[in-house]
Amino acid sequence: MEITNVSEYEAIAKEKLPKMVYDYYASGAEDQWTLRENRYAFSKILFRPRILIDVSKIDMTTSVLGFKISMPIMIAPTAMQKMAHPEGEYATARAASAAGTIMTLSSWATSSVEEVASTGPGIRFFQLYVYKDRNVVKQLVRRAERAGFKAIALTVDTPRLGRRESDIKNRFTLPPYLTLKNFEGLDLGKMDKTNDSGLASYVAGQVDQSLNWKDVKWLQTITSLPILVKGVLTAEDANLSIQNGAAGIIVSNHGARQLDYSPATILALEEVVKAAQGRVPVFLDGGVRRGTDVFKALALGASGIFIGRPVVFSLAADGEAGVRKVLKMLRDEFELTMALSGCRSLKEITRCKPEETQVAREPLAQLGKGSALLMVCRTYGKKGDDWTSSFSTNKEVLKKNDFPLTKAKRKGEELLQATKAKRNEGNFPVGSLQFLRQQVIAADDDKLL
Ligand SMILES: Cc1cc2nc3c(=O)[nH]c(=O)nc-3n(C[C@H](O)[C@H](O)[C@H](O)COP(=O)(O)O)c2cc1C
Repeated sequence: MEITNVSEYEAIAKEKLPKMVYDYYASGAEDQWTLRENRYAFSKILFRPRILIDVSKIDMTTSVLGFKISMPIMIAPTAMQKMAHPEGEYATARAASAAGTIMTLSSWATSSVEEVASTGPGIRFFQLYVYKDRNVVKQLVRRAERAGFKAIALTVDTPRLGRRESDIKNRFTLPPYLTLKNFEGLDLGKMDKTNDSGLASYVAGQVDQSLNWKDVKWLQTITSLPILVKGVLTAEDANLSIQNGAAGIIVSNHGARQLDYSPATILALEEVVKAAQGRVPVFLDGGVRRGTDVFKALALGASGIFIGRPVVFSLAADGEAGVRKVLKMLRDEFELTMALSGCRSLKEITRCKPEETQVAREPLAQLGKGSALLMVCRTYGKKGDDWTSSFSTNKEVLKKNDFPLTKAKRKGEELLQATKAKRNEGNFPVGSLQFLRQQVIAADDDKLL
């Protein structure tokens, strides 16, 4: 059957790949709440399209760190791509070049920086995990530089590996016919089979848990390449990244594979963009599967997005052709979104002022005729466990629908109690959440009565 969207590759990959490999690619950490949320949060953002604008010419080109690319859609680093397809990272590099966009190569690639460079011209970034042995890091960064990589994406959210339960169950390890090619000559290319996740043990053994802001400065002493800090979710860390010399920020929760119950990246984006104040570009990855998602990220201030899983799934399904098709589908969808919303260039993609609400945050008004609105707000306070909850009824809507206020209030109280009880069971994230978030649960009258 014809593939018509990016997400369809996942089912094919699942069929084709050994369970251990598919699970490694697909999983998130622990309850996988953030994994679902990365997608779900996009669905809560709506358009305010404009009409009768001449959209016969659409320009999607942009520049990233001074490099001109064909569209703001780039490839995130995903490890061990030869488990998906024998051509692995070569195929991805070729597909990215053909699409005129950037590929980021993982430290844990199954092809080396030199091998990827040998596939032909292309703008490529190198993703860095900082190992305890700093000589290893120095050598690797130099090799990436020499191989023509244009930037370092420093991953900062992985002092330890997130708990991915299927990897533990499957005793995940790199298949014996493959190596982490960048580390082969350094005797760190193999992964032992262990009694849990082989990758988690490898990380515990090799990756430097003491990594801190000083190291971001140190990195600048060993390379002249620009550094993108990958894994920022807060204004504080956006500021620190810039103060410590980052050339850009990637808002990322590592595809929901590290800290579960961290927010969806699309929800964390605006806070980071605001803090960056245009000093450096801010990018986003996590859950981008549609051209509309790309548009939403740009409207909320991203300079571009990166995709992770769609690449490994399409690679598994159809090698280079699969990755090419993913990039083309996203490009076409993004172009169509621009046309249908009345935007001809990336700079025309904006978030309207609140009174215009180009990007409506909650589709409450869309519950349909006959809906009574009842909202339960969960508020995460600034001081961590300052948790409050309240509900409110929209009187006007209730009146219009002849829905008694007292009944709505009673229902609201019930919902409130249920929410509090859940909180007490520990089902809601409280504690160290640093910023204010409101989540609105809307229920239509069917559910209320
Ligand atoms: C299978 C897989 C492997 C990954 N490997 C790496 C990696 O080696 N280094 C890194 O910084 N991020 C890695 N990531 C995270 C991605 O770079 C990116 O943040 C994430 O996949 C984006 O979310 P998405 O998969 O929903 O598009 C990996 C993600 C996946 C799914």
